[in-house]
Amino acid sequence: MIAGEQALAKRSCMLFSSPDDPVDVWVPELQRNLPEVEFRVAPELGAAADIDYAIVWKPPAGLLASLPNLKVIFSIGAGIDHILADPERPKALPIVRMVDPYLRDMMCEYALLGVLHFHRFMPEYQADQQARVWQRRWPHYTPEMTVGVLGLGEIGAKVAESFRQLGFRVRGWSRGEKRLPGIECFHGRAALPVMLSACHYLVCVLPLTGETAGLLDAAAFAALPRGAVVVSIGRGKHVVEPDLLSALESGQVGGAFLDVYASEPPQPAHPFWRHPRVIMTPHIAGEIVPKSSAKVVAANVRRHLAGEPIAHVVDLARGY
Ligand code: GLV
Repeated sequence: MIAGEQALAKRSCMLFSSPDDPVDVWVPELQRNLPEVEFRVAPELGAAADIDYAIVWKPPAGLLASLPNLKVIFSIGAGIDHILADPERPKALPIVRMVDPYLRDMMCEYALLGVLHFHRFMPEYQADQQARVWQRRWPHYTPEMTVGVLGLGEIGAKVAESFRQLGFRVRGWSRGEKRLPGIECFHGRAALPVMLSACHYLVCVLPLTGETAGLLDAAAFAALPRGAVVVSIGRGKHVVEPDLLSALESGQVGGAFLDVYASEPPQPAHPFWRHPRVIMTPHIAGEIVPKSSAKVVAANVRRHLAGEPIAHVVDLARGY
């Protein structure tokens, strides 16, 4: 390489920014997978003009706009709502959502946990244990129980398949038409009440978009069979929380296993905290674990460096 070329061959540079993810785990893992790339950690940008890529979770407003040569934004999340929340975000840049097999598998684990918790009467058996009561309950017959999965993308399709493998009847619902073996698929808003009408368990893994916000409202809960269980692991804003509470109070919804909330963390006075039919976890259903996710990011950076199309770029018109 002659001197002029050497000066041109600037080392690519990626900025890491997240208030919630461990930088001491993330950056070494990224560095191991992308030794040819330099990493910086916000807020220490150095020369902002050096930065080609940003990998972010809840980036501070204006951070991305302050990087004049930024080329691609990587989301530390399957969802990208945390990036769209920045009004100054450079609108023309591609945003890559995290499509990671390990994240997907964690979401499946959690969906199974939530459904099986109620399917196998754990709330009742826990209450019995407290009261030192030995009491067997007659089981549900799994092949007659239907799980509904809202969202049939990278995560939802695997969630639906996991329940099918356990012997449940499975219905799926998506925005556009999908066909999945062994899953009864529905699409479009008009088909939602029909789909819901048979779902003893409902798992929401939708992305949050203008079309999906508030989808789980009083009408949706009323469309479910009485006593159905809701497992919410997409985004909290899919659920109209006061409507879910009313449905729990009336017994129309028999239980809720919730990982996401309209506002996180929920206020200390939020009625979910002490509700006997609600199980709450702090947005941990699917974690982005660098051991797996850094490989996914590295493969995409290499595609970009090679001038190839990058995978999983968000369609902003669609919202995911
Ligand atoms: C987490 O919520 C994610 O978007 O992956």
